[in-house]
Amino acid sequence: MEDLLSVMDAAEELEDILSAGGRFKTARRGEGQSHPLRGKTLAMIFEKASTRSRISFEVGMAHLGGAALYLNRQDLQLGRGETLEDTARVLGRYVDAILYRAYRHDDVVRLAEAASVPVINGLDDLEHPAQILSDLFTIREALGDPRGRKLAYLGDGNNVCNSLLLGCALTRMNVAVATPSGYEPDAGILALAERTAAEGNAWVKVVRDPAEAVAGADIVYTDVWVSMGMEEQREAREQVFRPYQVNPELLSGANPEARVMHPLPAHRGLEITNEILDGPASLVWDQAENRLHVQKALLVRLLGGGES
Ligand code: CP
Ligand code: NVA
Repeated sequence: MEDLLSVMDAAEELEDILSAGGRFKTARRGEGQSHPLRGKTLAMIFEKASTRSRISFEVGMAHLGGAALYLNRQDLQLGRGETLEDTARVLGRYVDAILYRAYRHDDVVRLAEAASVPVINGLDDLEHPAQILSDLFTIREALGDPRGRKLAYLGDGNNVCNSLLLGCALTRMNVAVATPSGYEPDAGILALAERTAAEGNAWVKVVRDPAEAVAGADIVYTDVWVSMGMEEQREAREQVFRPYQVNPELLSGANPEARVMHPLPAHRGLEITNEILDGPASLVWDQAENRLHVQKALLVRLLGGGES
């Protein structure tokens, strides 16, 4: 793996990354560990806000003996018109990898093409692969072997949904996505997820009815209805997504042992109710924590030149 622009980039190394993430979780802060990324630096360009991604990557680099630089796009010459390609070429002379949270997936691809160092997609309009790698770890912690289990995704067919479809297909989970008309996941990603799932005897389907998607599900996953950059659509979205709220009534149709996931930040009372988010089925805090452990494994893969 040279870059992590899509979940599919990690397909071959996925098992190793998840196993190494488990070892990092057991070792916690790295007591007794070597510092495999001593002297290495990760530049992190953010075009949008972040709590979890920024902090987990920054802390992860510190645990591994390296350093991370937070770069707000507006503070770079990029914000005044320097090209992405020139920025990538220069950063490659200073740092060992670049994380980029962008509006446009095409911009992440352009940066990666011009950079001589690995690029990690820190979320764009198409995917959120670092989130989903750690979510696959969280699902395993909760369910054990995920093969043949069912995940229901409710709400917007957005970046998180797209990456989740690919991640579940790679780990042979069945996925039912319920979205309103016009908010389906990306058609190209859906087709790729369907092909990948079929190779592992799993399936993917997109339906309208949230109760149909949730029926018998082992994991119920939702995300915000208004992603960053879509704020002007807030009113319309809050109307159309209302039937897709994860609440006790909807969850009652899932497997009685079902667990609930959300990448956070959550909009309490919109896509998910307080009693679900704060209740016994919720995995959201483990989900947030596991970003740190799994991304440390990812960083060692990409920057350490070998085994995690
Ligand atoms: N889930 C996630 O990526 O959160 P942040 O936007 O806070 O980084
Ligand atoms: N879909 C959300 C995820 C935030 C982590 C967004 O893009 O804003």
